[in-house]
Amino acid sequence: MKTINAASLIVAIVLLVPTVASAQKKYVGTKSCFMCHQTEKQGKQKDIWMKSAHAGAYKTLTTAKADEVAKAKGISGPAAGAKECLECHTTVADAKLLDKGFDIKDGVQCETCHGAGSAYRNMTVMKSKEKAVAEGLTEFKDEAAIEAFCKTCHNAKSPFYKEFKFKEYWEKIHHPVPKAG
Ligand code: HEC
Ligand code: HEC
Ligand code: HEC
Ligand code: HEC
Repeated sequence: MKTINAASLIVAIVLLVPTVASAQKKYVGTKSCFMCHQTEKQGKQKDIWMKSAHAGAYKTLTTAKADEVAKAKGISGPAAGAKECLECHTTVADAKLLDKGFDIKDGVQCETCHGAGSAYRNMTVMKSKEKAVAEGLTEFKDEAAIEAFCKTCHNAKSPFYKEFKFKEYWEKIHHPVPKAG
């Protein structure tokens, strides 16, 4: 009797683990990324992002200018509480997918673009792009794919839309890992 129970338990675990793992990738917040992505050698992604407009994108929604625009669009309540504005100015996700380190005030943050990081942020996974992608890191196939992704927010649905010149904009925010050697 005991053996049968143990065996069925193992079957249940084997069947359950993959679904649970893939359903639970959470947004862990910028601090989890800063830990490894701030040194000169790594490419100072932290500093580059902190200086970019993306880091202040939520704060922008808390201004009087933002509230005026929201009001003109018939949104009741502050812009910083409106889904119609938050969808481009922050990471919008199911509350269940937000880990305690996640902070909406970070605006357009690392994981807004790279995907929820709970499963790919550890060193062993991160060192292999293949593994990281399998654990939820967004893969950009080529430059055209990056541009198309930017345009999911940089488009005419934005009340302050300016023509999106990809090369110029990318130059302002790109944050490569320096080539070794
Ligand atoms: C424990 C350290 C560590 C943490 C934490 C970490 N990373 Fe990484 N990450 C690395 C290392 C190491 C690499 C490999 C860089 C290289 O090519 O030298 C890497 C690579 C990457 C890459 C490039 C993948 C590729 O090969 O194209 C991205 C994008 C990335 N990390 C994003 C993030 C984000 C977003 C977070 C936070 C959710 C994060 N990382 C947290 C260590 C870390
Ligand atoms: C999730 C939505 C979103 C995505 C995706 C996104 N952006 Fe942005 N971006 C914004 C918002 C919102 C602002 C305005 C922030 C502010 O000023 O408060 C902005 C501002 C900028 C600015 C500053 C523009 C200026 O007038 O100075 C640059 C540059 C930029 N983005 C580049 C990019 C690039 C390149 C990509 C793709 C790799 C990208 N963005 C993807 C939402 C996004
Ligand atoms: C489709 C994505 C998108 C949506 C939806 C969106 N924004 Fe933005 N917002 C942007 C981008 C991108 C920028 C940066 C301007 C640019 O470079 O095109 C921006 C810039 C701004 C700015 C700064 C403008 C300036 O030049 O000072 C304010 C304020 C703002 N948005 C408020 C709002 C409000 C309020 C809402 C909701 C009613 C909203 N946005 C909805 C993408 C969006
Ligand atoms: C607006 C979107 C956006 C934001 C915000 C963003 N990234 Fe990226 N990041 C990209 C794109 C697009 C690439 C290029 C992907 C590629 O080359 O495959 C990239 C590349 C990288 C790389 C790899 C660079 C290389 O040379 O291979 C690392 C590491 C990285 N990002 C980490 C971060 C970290 C850490 C943050 C937050 C501090 C962050 N990113 C914020 C869009 C973003």
